[in-house]
Amino acid sequence: MATATTPWQAVALSIYPDMFPGPLGMSLAGTALKDGAWSLRTVDIRDHATDKHNTVDDAPFGGGAGMVMRPDVVDAAIKSAKAEYQADLPFIYLTPRGRPLCQDRVQELATGPGAMVLCGRFEGVDERVLEEHEAEEISIGDFVLSGGETAAIVLLDACIRLLPGVMGSVDSLSEESFERGLLEYPHYTRPQSWSTRDVPEVLLSGHHANIEAWRLEQAEAVTRERRPDLWELYTLSKV
Ligand code: ADE
Repeated sequence: MATATTPWQAVALSIYPDMFPGPLGMSLAGTALKDGAWSLRTVDIRDHATDKHNTVDDAPFGGGAGMVMRPDVVDAAIKSAKAEYQADLPFIYLTPRGRPLCQDRVQELATGPGAMVLCGRFEGVDERVLEEHEAEEISIGDFVLSGGETAAIVLLDACIRLLPGVMGSVDSLSEESFERGLLEYPHYTRPQSWSTRDVPEVLLSGHHANIEAWRLEQAEAVTRERRPDLWELYTLSKV
């Protein structure tokens, strides 16, 4: 658990360590980093190569396209990270083969000590090193990125915004998408009349119960339409 004295720890292993903090150095996450709510350490996997060309990858056994990150090099990087930083952080490998990232897992990670994230390039990392270190494999969606770094940044961003004090209003966290198993209702601000469009009347009424009911209705409608998977779980949970 991150406290006022121990920040939530992010450790990123990558052959492109300069991709961090990237967007996490700006806005709320950037301020929280400067304020010490979370800390960031990077490990350059290439520093753990053993040949004169600093090779981190090799051709796949069995043939096929692309290259695979070598287990010996990645293992040395992981061991050095564990020796230097907190060894018992959840160890996560970002891969499209992983379990889909969800808000429940984000919340668990955010309430823990931090995360050590392994970012693959090429076709991925040799399976044996993932087994050896019991990596939790996580995907951020059914699409393929050019490397795990952007996926790791997404995961860290989702965790960091939940750390105590990082977001101004705790209310906005409890109302947001996935918190009730629903997508969020739509938002409106000034001007009240814009282009040919007006803000829904009910939001101007000051009648809190009606506003709540309208928002729930909207959240339910958008969830039913866009995410039948979430809708089914939501309806089952109401029985
Ligand atoms: N690496 C490449 N694509 C990815 C994805 N969709 N999720 C996590 N890591 C990835």
